[in-house]
Amino acid sequence: MTPEDKKRIAAEAAVGYVRPDTVIGVGTGSTVNHFIDLLAAEMAGEVRAAVSSSEASSERLRGHGIPVVDLNEVGRLDVYVDGADESNARLHLIKGGGGALTREKIVAAASREFVCIADDSKLVATLGSFPLPVEVIPMARELVAYALRELGGEPRLRDGTVTDNGNHILDVHGLSIDDALTLETRINQITGVVCNGLFAHRPADVLILGTDHGVERHTAAT
Ligand code: 5RP
Repeated sequence: MTPEDKKRIAAEAAVGYVRPDTVIGVGTGSTVNHFIDLLAAEMAGEVRAAVSSSEASSERLRGHGIPVVDLNEVGRLDVYVDGADESNARLHLIKGGGGALTREKIVAAASREFVCIADDSKLVATLGSFPLPVEVIPMARELVAYALRELGGEPRLRDGTVTDNGNHILDVHGLSIDDALTLETRINQITGVVCNGLFAHRPADVLILGTDHGVERHTAAT
């Protein structure tokens, strides 16, 4: 099975978590694109609306006739479906490969259940092989980069990227993340950081992986 096929079967399984007539959260990326397309095909007219984590996903949702609403209009969401760049067995994630980490973290925080979908290459023993994205206020870029080096990482500016919020992204290489909860908090405390791509304080509730043998569902191992 190709990686794309694995993403698609994970996305298909996630459609089963969407209850009719609810407002759902929708993330960003190639796996989520499958989810949006399958949701539209299988639940046409049954989704009341979506809160989206990016302009790209909003456009795709609207293209399928699914209304996109502002989070402030709806408050809490029933379920949030999104991809990830890495997950460990506790369902602590690295996200933000697509640059939408801040809105993704907001939508995840507003959701009763977070269903993460991915191909099986994303499940890792230790987070950090995928560079950790950190969204920064542009004028604080070098200040934040210095502090990230102090934490043992090697930040690199994601060239030519401006987020949907008008900020820059530093991708932090060389981290081996044993304690994602502590590192998420420490990075958030650096002045000039908007958000970092560790989702440990609000991990996924369910991780659905596409594998050669079908889908696997994981819940957090303690
Ligand atoms: C975007 C994300 C994505 O969920 C993550 O990059 C995974 O993307 P893909 O489904 O294309 O592998 O965090 O900011």
